[in-house]
Amino acid sequence: MNRAYLTTPIFYVNAEPHLGHTYTMVVVDTVARWCRSRGVETFFLTGTDEHGDKIAEAAEANGVTPQAYVDRISGLFRSTWDACGITYDHFIRTTDEHHKRYVQDVLARLHERGEIYFGEYEGLYCVGCERFYTEKELVDGKCPDHRTTPEWIEEENYFFRMGKYQERLVAVLNERPELVRPERYRNEVLAMLREPLEDLCISRPKARLTWGIELPFDKNFVTYVWFDALLNYTSVAALRGEEFFRDYWPCAEHFIAKDILKPHGVYWPTMLMAAGLPLYDHLNVHGYWVMDSGKMSKSLGNVIRPLEMKARFGMDAFRYFLLREMAFGQDAKFSEEALVTRINADLANNLGNLVSRVLAMQQKYFAGAVQPLSSGWAAEDFELRDKFIQAENELNSYVAELQFHRALESVWSALDHANRYIVQTAPFTMIKDPEKQARVGEVLHHLLEAVRTLSRLLAPFMPDTARELSALLALSDDALRVPWGQGFVAGHKVNPAKVLFPRIETDAKK
Ligand code: MSP
Repeated sequence: MNRAYLTTPIFYVNAEPHLGHTYTMVVVDTVARWCRSRGVETFFLTGTDEHGDKIAEAAEANGVTPQAYVDRISGLFRSTWDACGITYDHFIRTTDEHHKRYVQDVLARLHERGEIYFGEYEGLYCVGCERFYTEKELVDGKCPDHRTTPEWIEEENYFFRMGKYQERLVAVLNERPELVRPERYRNEVLAMLREPLEDLCISRPKARLTWGIELPFDKNFVTYVWFDALLNYTSVAALRGEEFFRDYWPCAEHFIAKDILKPHGVYWPTMLMAAGLPLYDHLNVHGYWVMDSGKMSKSLGNVIRPLEMKARFGMDAFRYFLLREMAFGQDAKFSEEALVTRINADLANNLGNLVSRVLAMQQKYFAGAVQPLSSGWAAEDFELRDKFIQAENELNSYVAELQFHRALESVWSALDHANRYIVQTAPFTMIKDPEKQARVGEVLHHLLEAVRTLSRLLAPFMPDTARELSALLALSDDALRVPWGQGFVAGHKVNPAKVLFPRIETDAKK
């Protein structure tokens, strides 16, 4: 892989950025940073999904025009991701002119080729989901997600011949077992394809909804919001020119949660097939964050807002928690208690203590000046180095498999080893013996190498911390990349220790 086109869902602007959105953003940001550090040409796309019934309703409820409403909330998403240090390359809004033109071009092409036809439709429609439901999909006659009774709607509409791609999609899923991953979600898509695949209604009559992209071949209709939204992924690649499209689009890595598996696992690939475009490389699906009290919602007052988390705990601590606590693909529980426990145990104690002990000793014993490494290393020095090499190798394979929590576990296992190395070598005791000063210098040199390696390994996950570590070591980015033992010249001065992650006192202990 020498290119990566990484995407998040484009978020609806009827809610403000919360924990769930932030998780996907943090995951993709981590992958993007990791790719870039490996020399992969990386493009990171995010944005907002601004058309459809839901948005029109939210604007009305707020007493403003849809345009004024979407401008405000889309701006809020963008400024939130900026404040969180998310390194996206392009922020698309489905109200962008280029996107509207692109959607209309695709629709016109598909219509000309007979992939879209006009027909009658009646069925049960959930406004919340913006889609029709079959009786079978309902639970006690209600939408399983919104617990509301869908409306019976009869109308004439345009349809995309999705059904005719059913067999081809099944064949692709068999040929490319990793297309949708982890496997449980591939199985879910295959299960959806065991039922006959119906054609997809891709329009809404303007009599009912005007907030959408007009169909190029019938001005009485607007485009169904999912058809418009999914096209964001290729719309941006097309905007950047033919060469970009050819090089990047086939390297697409979509990241979504399980809630929107069907549109991404079924509608989107069949749309791409009909348009004669290559499929995405992977659809990467994660689970849901749930609160102790169940679902996160405004009415329950338990919405977790990223900027509040950043202000209270620091962005890196929040990122660490999200990536360490959730196994990608499975659901995870969010609680502040668990967050504080991880900050205190893993960040304040483990990481913070290692760094401050090493820098404090370096300062106290050698006024911050790095001592030379002798040519003869002790067995424990090799072990320490090898443990970090192993952590780096494991990290790279785990990130490639989207197992972020395991990648961090590997780093922390090396960190534990470094803390044990201090106990084992006991530089604080050796320093009292004038004959052992040189050895103390060597031990600290190896420990500084451990901190330097940590700065490199943590960079994709905790970018601010990684930068802080290299600043404490007074090293440039280039110096972070060289092998163990070559990072410091003797006499190089490192900075005095500082507290990276203050312990958080919980109420119980106050
Ligand atoms: N607009 C559509 C997506 C169109 S993509 C072409 C949409 N928007 S959304 O605002 O509802 O965002 C859904 C996504 O937000 C999920 O797929 C996931 O990335 C994230 N999450 C929202 N709540 C979440 C949790 N509680 N847990 C984990 N992620 C969730 O659907």
